[in-house]
Amino acid sequence: MNFKEISRNILKKRSIDELVSTSKNSELKKTLNVFDLIIIGIGAVVGTGIFTIIGTAITGSTESAGAGPAIIISMVLAAIACVFSALCYSEIAAMIPVAGSAYTYTYATMGEFMAWMIGWILMLEYAIGNITVASAWTGYFIQLLKGFKQYLPDFVVNFPIWLRYDYRTLANICSTNGWDIHDKIPYLFGHIPIAISLPAVTIVIILTMLLIRGIKESTKVASIMVGVNMFMILSFIIVGAFYVKPENWTPFFPTDPTGIIMGAFLIFFAYIGFDAISTTAEETENPQRDLPVAILGTLIICTILYVSVALVLTGIVPVNKIDVTAPIAHAMSYIGKDWFAGLISVGALCALTTVLLVYQLGTTRILYAISRDKFLPRSWRMIHKKYKTPHIMTWISGIVVIVCGLFMDLNISAALCNFGTFTSFVIICLAVLILRKTEPNRPRPFKVPLCPWFPILGMIICGVLIVFSMKTLQTSSLYFVFWLVAGLLIYVFYGYNQKRLGEKKRME
Ligand code: ALA
Repeated sequence: MNFKEISRNILKKRSIDELVSTSKNSELKKTLNVFDLIIIGIGAVVGTGIFTIIGTAITGSTESAGAGPAIIISMVLAAIACVFSALCYSEIAAMIPVAGSAYTYTYATMGEFMAWMIGWILMLEYAIGNITVASAWTGYFIQLLKGFKQYLPDFVVNFPIWLRYDYRTLANICSTNGWDIHDKIPYLFGHIPIAISLPAVTIVIILTMLLIRGIKESTKVASIMVGVNMFMILSFIIVGAFYVKPENWTPFFPTDPTGIIMGAFLIFFAYIGFDAISTTAEETENPQRDLPVAILGTLIICTILYVSVALVLTGIVPVNKIDVTAPIAHAMSYIGKDWFAGLISVGALCALTTVLLVYQLGTTRILYAISRDKFLPRSWRMIHKKYKTPHIMTWISGIVVIVCGLFMDLNISAALCNFGTFTSFVIICLAVLILRKTEPNRPRPFKVPLCPWFPILGMIICGVLIVFSMKTLQTSSLYFVFWLVAGLLIYVFYGYNQKRLGEKKRME
């Protein structure tokens, strides 16, 4: 094969007409309406960010300054970083309502190789992001058990520490407390340490089975949990508002102004997820109308909620007294409402569960699209005879979270998730610009206003955030580069040939 042929192959785009017709013949059931989509959106967005990360974003850490009460400015900044990309997602999702999100859109605009790389990068956002959320889930679960310790047997509340955390987290806990880790964990064959986050593994297995039962069933469960978590957040805002002391908002700005930017970077994690809506395009009844409404609606609802939560939280608790592990629940204990703090933990668990559910749904739908394009074995996308869902892929995505969660550093997985998301946002903005040139006459049920300025602004803001965070988080940046190189090698040595084989078979 010569160089010309290779470069033709890697730049080969999929025609939009072909993509849309493939999706029309899709075996996936079209059952989702705009309400389901907003549930999926809120379910994916509201989670670790607002229940946990907000604490560090306000107070700061050893690595970075905090935003203090000016966290609301950080939140608005993070929302602005998302809104341009959300508009771009809306335009393309309504125009090409096909499973696979940014992966598919890249295939239609930038060709095979870039599409593969974006698919690979999206795995950072969805699968690796889920590792962070699964770990936060364990944390809140342990808190909830503690809250009910009067009613539960001791062996449930105090189950062995080696069944609570992965090895790295456990090692950190032991070193903080001055314990010898060898006293805390058993060893298999005397050498292999056993440390596993059993609650995280269990919830991932349960959600995998639920997703296999069906997307409609999964969104039904998600809508109940979103309801519970919305109720808790709204109650927090309403009850907390009566305890706000405006003097806690002064000084409003932090002494170190970089705290506001770092706050925006950290709290960006809280907004990730609205793009998951576009991964379900093929299962939506009326994608052209419903996808843009759901994407923008989710972003607006979440921004209003987040800013309100931040105002109440910083109004109730002085910045130096905010708890970084469970700031919202702790704020209720701070005003003497311990029972309410327990209920907040229930809301947090519901929120984290829906994030896990939607992210796993997103992972499988992107893998489904990649496999349908012949980059991955056909067997992976087998549809369950009874439930009509891609069950093998659903298991694969669940197992990846469980296995990687055994040894992956969670701060690193969160940062990697941010890097992956920023990159996909830049690509989406670029795709809008390309499609406006290459497909000017294609019907666009939704159009990004002020094009090309909005997509360009989106690219600049996300690009600046990538560069800024890469400078600060050097270890994660290294992992990110490693991830990109791994994706490149898999494409060169496997994906490229697999794709050519698939094409050859289709011709025969
Ligand atoms: N936005 C999601 C969360 O905060 C990822 O958990």
